[in-house]
Amino acid sequence: MAAAYELSLSGRTALVTGASTGIGHAIALAFAQAGAAVVVNHLGRTAEGAALVHEIQSLGAQAWAIEADVSLSADVARLAAQAALVCGTVDVLVNNAGIIQEKPFLETTEDDWDRMLVTDLKSVFLTSRAFLPGMVARGRGIIINIASDLAVLGREHYAPYCAAKAGVLGLTRSLAREFAPAIRVNAIAPGPVNTAMVSLDAMSPECMAKELDIPQRRIAEPQEIAATALFLASDLSRFYCGQVLGPNGGSVMT
Ligand SMILES: NC(=O)c1ccc[n+]([C@@H]2O[C@H](COP(=O)([O-])OP(=O)(O)OC[C@H]3O[C@@H](n4cnc5c(N)ncnc54)[C@H](O)[C@@H]3O)[C@@H](O)[C@H]2O)c1
Repeated sequence: MAAAYELSLSGRTALVTGASTGIGHAIALAFAQAGAAVVVNHLGRTAEGAALVHEIQSLGAQAWAIEADVSLSADVARLAAQAALVCGTVDVLVNNAGIIQEKPFLETTEDDWDRMLVTDLKSVFLTSRAFLPGMVARGRGIIINIASDLAVLGREHYAPYCAAKAGVLGLTRSLAREFAPAIRVNAIAPGPVNTAMVSLDAMSPECMAKELDIPQRRIAEPQEIAATALFLASDLSRFYCGQVLGPNGGSVMT
């Protein structure tokens, strides 16, 4: 086989969930810079979604913002229908949307559990179920699921989040096996990243200190996670199937 080290996503369309902020925002921009058309999914962030679409368009790429709550099957069905209308096909699906909550386990309510599992895990089931049929029909497609290093490490006061993200890894491997070779499903399990999720607004100082207690001694920038997503979306990763890539500063070593 001739070597072809090509990171271009030219001619492809990607849909990134929760794309108006943080890691999703960086992934959407990285994909657009690589030539992809991008569907920017967001929830209640119309201004940020529109600003990102504008930024992508100014790079010369196509972009559309579609609001949808990816934890609701009716919203996901509408998202898939609207995406089909605006861009026809979705070649790359990035399941990035997520929430986090710090709470001692014995104070965690059933509602906390359900909200976390539905948003961080069921959403991946719903979007995968919505977009896989098109990928199967075309005989190609890529799904990238954003998990977390905490899926492997576990973390006190984050049990539902860790359980949901561990579930994402199981779902990734199952779909990778079921839909290979045509469709490649892989996951990214980032370490701490400089977004609203890892800030003293959302996290106790004790937990923040744990996040920083990794060999690289810093948190990542969202662009460092987007670089991994770009690799997984490109043909350079064509032999990756059901893998978990860890841009994590050394928090987990496998
Ligand atoms: N920041 C970190 O350190 C870190 C580490 C590992 C994994 N992650 C994961 O990365 C992903 C992105 O997080 P982030 O750090 O960029 O934080 P973020 O809060 O900036 O991004 C999460 C995005 O998801 C959106 N969202 C939440 N629920 C949604 C829903 N039901 N429907 C549609 N959109 C929804 C939010 O509006 C937000 O834009 C998450 O899945 C998170 O768990 C983050």
